[in-house]
Parts: sequence; structure tokens; C-alpha cells
Amino acid sequence: MSETVEIFEMGPRDGLQNEKRLIPTAEKIALVDLLSTAGFRRIEVTSFVSPKWVPQMSDAAEVMAGITRAPGISYAVLTPNLKGYEGAKAAKASEIAIFASASEAFSKANLNATIAESLERFAPVAEAARADGIPVRGYVSMVTDSPFEGDVPPADVARVVAALRDMGCYEVSLGDTIGQATPEKIDAMLAVVLDEMPAAQLAGHYHDTAGRALQNIDASLARGLRVFDAAVGGLGGCPYAPGAKGNVATELVANHLAARGFDTGLNMTVIDQAANMARAMRVGP
Ligand code: HMG
Ligand code: MG
Repeated sequence: MSETVEIFEMGPRDGLQNEKRLIPTAEKIALVDLLSTAGFRRIEVTSFVSPKWVPQMSDAAEVMAGITRAPGISYAVLTPNLKGYEGAKAAKASEIAIFASASEAFSKANLNATIAESLERFAPVAEAARADGIPVRGYVSMVTDSPFEGDVPPADVARVVAALRDMGCYEVSLGDTIGQATPEKIDAMLAVVLDEMPAAQLAGHYHDTAGRALQNIDASLARGLRVFDAAVGGLGGCPYAPGAKGNVATELVANHLAARGFDTGLNMTVIDQAANMARAMRVGP
């Protein structure tokens, strides 16, 4: 039996949030419904963020109401504050994610808050989710490189990981938001972060701007990580991270992992259909 590695599908959220064309809600729902047949255990569907900040995600409630949920799949959403949490709860999100940064400048750009302020804002969100029995995932952005400050010290990442752990996040996803990491930097960052959280509760979230995401996944596998975020078609990027391109493509990661002898449980025919659908959504009918 080969060892399992999970791909957490980000396409409908990280993949689409930065698209210039305002994608019709029905197209987003169709993508999620197709992805629900691909074998994923977790799909990030949308974000309950300010529509002024990310207009593309302003139909979060409609998307959540329109999808056909398959049993056994967790439908995740991003929540930056309590207002977002209330929206996520009303939409019956299976799990939520709070998203912090190891870079002060990115925290300001993405959340209009310092890192400390953002963590203060996330605490009541995590508390409410715990009271409601909704699992909380955490993100740390800019885990190696920041477009604002350059190299990000691993200790800064570890501090935020520890804060998210203490808030009760069941897993923390480590974001190379602008896709500039190298396997060496990922390894050095993980060496420090692993003092705060075990590999079984960490995920790699690597954008593929410089084409090194697969190498960064390999470096993370060597450190024991077994969950990776990816987006079908390789779409996306963060609107507040200059130079950020898409998440590494799900189809690329799945094929790479299969070649390395890992089992992702994904149906590649469906993945390829979804990648085509995602790419077509960029240009429209
Ligand atoms: P702010 O402007 O400081 O917030 O933004 P505010 O509280 O002053 O609110 C401004 C307006 O937004 C108000 O409306 C609020 O009601 C509304 P107005 O009174 O002016 O009409 N508002 C909301 N509406 C709906 N849902 C909400 C919400 N919150 C406020 N939840 C805020 C602060 C955090 C809201 C804003 O900065 C924000 O929404 N940021 C999110 C940015 C984002 O989504 N970025 C992309 C996701 S992160 C990412 O991609 C990285 C990741 O992939 C990992 C990686 O790659 O590293 C996860
Ligand atoms: Mg991202």
C-alpha cells in the first residue's frame, strides 16, 4: 500500500479570488460541484471577506447555498473577522480558516491590521467556532519571502504558527504567497516551525511563480508534511501580494506525487476536466 498525501483543493477560492473577470456565481458552483466528484476530502469554496477588498468573493453566501454537498467532503471558507464568521456559520461552512501573516507589511496590506491586531481579531472567531463545533484551520502567509521586506526569518513564522495553534487551529497551512521560496528556505523554515507544531498538523501552500513549488513540496515531504494546498489549472494569487501568481496546479502536484509513489486518491480524468473548466472561467464564454 502506498502512503497517502492529501491535496486540499483551493481553486474556487485562491484560484478565483484574483481573476479580473467577475465570474458568474453559477460557474463557481459548477466548478465546486465537479471538484466534489474528484476525490478531495477538503475543498476551499470561497471567502467571507469584505466585498470592498475582494469583489470576486462577494457572492460567498450564494455559492455556498448553490453547491451540492457530497458526503464526507469538508467545504471550507476564509473568515477574516467575526462578521465573516457569522456569514460562514449561516452558510453552514464545514470548516473555517483564519489567515495571518509572518510579514507585518503584508498583514497591513491584506487585513488592514498589524500581525498582533490580526491575531486579536482572530481569537474571538476561533472561540466562536469552537463553541459552535466548527473546525478552524490557520494560514501563515509569507513564510520565506515577502515582496515588502525580503527574507522572512523562520522565527517570525514559528511565532505566528504557535499563536494559531494556541487558538485551537487543527492544522496550519504555510504560505509561500508570492512563490519565491527555494527548497533550502522551506527546509530551514520548517526546521524551526516544527518545534511549535508537528508535521501531521502542518500543510504546504506554495504558489508557483518561480516554478519551484514541486521542489518545495519535496522538501516538505522530507520533513514529514503530508498535506498540500493546490488549485486546479494553477489559477490565482493574492490581490494584495504584488507578484503573486497562482497556487501550484493540482494536476501537476497529483502527477508528481503519483510518480513519487504517493496515493492522492484523486480521479485524474475529473481533475483534468476541472482544470480545463477553471482555465476557461478566466476568459469567459
Ligand atoms: P477594513 O476596511 O479595515 O474593515 O478591512 P472594516 O471593519 O472597516 O470594514 C470595511 C467594510 O467592509 C465595512 O462595510 C464592513 O461592514 C465590511 P461598510 O460599513 O463600509 O459598508 N466588512 C465585511 N463585509 C463582509 N464580510 C466581512 C466583512 N468585514 C468587514 N467579513 C478586512 C479589514 C479584514 C475586512 C479586509 O482587510 C478584508 O476583508 N481582507 C481580506 C483580504 C483577502 O481576502 N485576501 C485574500 C485572501 S488571503 C490569501 O490569499 C493568502 C492565502 O492564500 C495564503 C497564502 O497564499 O499565503 C490564504
Ligand atoms: Mg494563497
